Amino acid sequence: MDDATKTAAVAAIRIDQDSEATSAKSTDAFVAFMDDSAETVESRGEQSKESLTTSAKALDRWFKDRQKTHGAPRLLEVPNETLVTNAGPLQITGNITLVHEDGSVQYANHLSLCRCGHSNSKPVCDEQHLEAEFLNSGKIHEVSEFAASNRASKITISCIKDGPITFRGRMKLHNQFGQECIKMRGSLCRCGHSASKPFCDGSHSRTGFKTG
Ligand code: FES
Repeated sequence: MDDATKTAAVAAIRIDQDSEATSAKSTDAFVAFMDDSAETVESRGEQSKESLTTSAKALDRWFKDRQKTHGAPRLLEVPNETLVTNAGPLQITGNITLVHEDGSVQYANHLSLCRCGHSNSKPVCDEQHLEAEFLNSGKIHEVSEFAASNRASKITISCIKDGPITFRGRMKLHNQFGQECIKMRGSLCRCGHSASKPFCDGSHSRTGFKTG
């Protein structure tokens, strides 16, 4: 293991051990991992070094690496759930590792994430859906891929630049109508334009959605 890899591994482990507060934030782990991965790819001549912004491939590599080591710092006895609110945000509860677009990592047990596309504090909801008169009842049209479970587990939520929020880990999506959908991974719309809400259908590209 070279020095850069060691530094990234130590940084990731230190964050797990030091993060007593569930909302502790760090910029070390994912950025270091991504930087190291980009150098590896570049050295193979497959593509030029990526900028330090979130990309789906880098997140996949990072997620797999973290699964082998640790994860979120504390495991509370709560399942991961997302309430798709009526004309409002995604209310997410669980053992959450949130990876921001710049690669910074935040641990949380509850998040209210924008899905109308208008928040000035993305990815967090700042109530702009009221101003924007966002209309979506929160109906879920997809079916569960896994059985329901109340077992506590970890989930990683990643903010894709100019795109959706992705998740890896068991997640139950539910709404005011009693609909439920359990998945292990998926992409949730945060531009407000998907025809398949709460899931992303790629409309963010067509509409030129910008997150920053
Ligand atoms: S984020 Fe809205 S369609 Fe992808």
